[in-house]
Amino acid sequence: MAEIDRSSANVITRIARKIYHPIGFTKGYNFAFWLVYLGVFLGFTISRLQFLDFYGVFCSATAKSATSHAAPGECFYFLQKPYTIGIVLHLATILPASLLVCIQFIPVIRRKATLLHRVNGYIIIILSVLSMVGVYIIAPRTFGGGFDAQGLLGALSVTFLWALLMSYISIKRRQIEQHRAWMLRAWFWAGSIITGRLIAILVLKVLKSPPYYAMPCDKIDSMLQDRTLDLYPECLSFYSGANPQQNVVVRAEFNHPTSVVEAAAALDAVFGMAYFVAFLLHLFGVEIYLHLTSSETRHSGHVSSSKP
Ligand code: HEM
Repeated sequence: MAEIDRSSANVITRIARKIYHPIGFTKGYNFAFWLVYLGVFLGFTISRLQFLDFYGVFCSATAKSATSHAAPGECFYFLQKPYTIGIVLHLATILPASLLVCIQFIPVIRRKATLLHRVNGYIIIILSVLSMVGVYIIAPRTFGGGFDAQGLLGALSVTFLWALLMSYISIKRRQIEQHRAWMLRAWFWAGSIITGRLIAILVLKVLKSPPYYAMPCDKIDSMLQDRTLDLYPECLSFYSGANPQQNVVVRAEFNHPTSVVEAAAALDAVFGMAYFVAFLLHLFGVEIYLHLTSSETRHSGHVSSSKP
């Protein structure tokens, strides 16, 4: 029985090698990690390509529409200048860059089509820098625009740009191993925006006693219109014009069966924490991956060109 198990394991290993060797991988676990990470990243990017139709899909119709694909209430700002420019710039650059970077991390293409790798690399860097300009424009309004959200976005965008710069400097100095490490860092850190979503939803689903979050009346009005005053009477000073910046305290309950405002407050409240935890996980995760693959280099005696 053990003999049969061993021989079928050998067959599976041989078949797997026939798949990952031609792609340019030397180790199965390397390939498995690459496949899972790139699969999730590519899947996320493809599913978001529809957002390039900004007015038709992402922020469909008007700010008062409940059918947009953005988080509740976000389109109230995204349909105003300069935030429209920021979010459109971010989406129109980061989505193509994310598609192109998937090609970049296929080892065989990098080794056999150096020119493609080089041109693709420059395009990705330019698109990435532009996408972060977009982030800086929308940061004051993203998910409540609080200090937590702005701090997180600042940290994520600066480290992402820093890693791209280090990667560029390394390749100019012909330091291939360093170039690979910094590119992997840049895109693994950027991938934390996917994990952040999962953590945010998980936390909000299991949260027993929801916190409260301050939300401006103009954003609430964009979601509730004439029901605003019934639910949030403090918004009277906003409608009367006495205080256009009036904020009210909203219960941040994601699972609330009817209130879209409470769901928006929940997302605003959890954004900074969830994405920060995700960023930390990715920060350490990529170092573990780099460590694992560098020991592989030492054992096999191969150079980095065989790794993603
Ligand atoms: C360093 C990395 C990144 C930062 C700092 C960043 C930041 C942001 C911000 C602030 C928003 C607006 C969120 C809102 O208020 O609704 C956003 C939206 C979005 N970003 Fe990024 N982003 C980054 C990387 C990426 C990557 C790698 C992708 C890849 C596909 C991506 C795809 C999107 C999409 C599709 C949206 C639309 C909203 C959504 O799907 O939730 N971003 N990003």
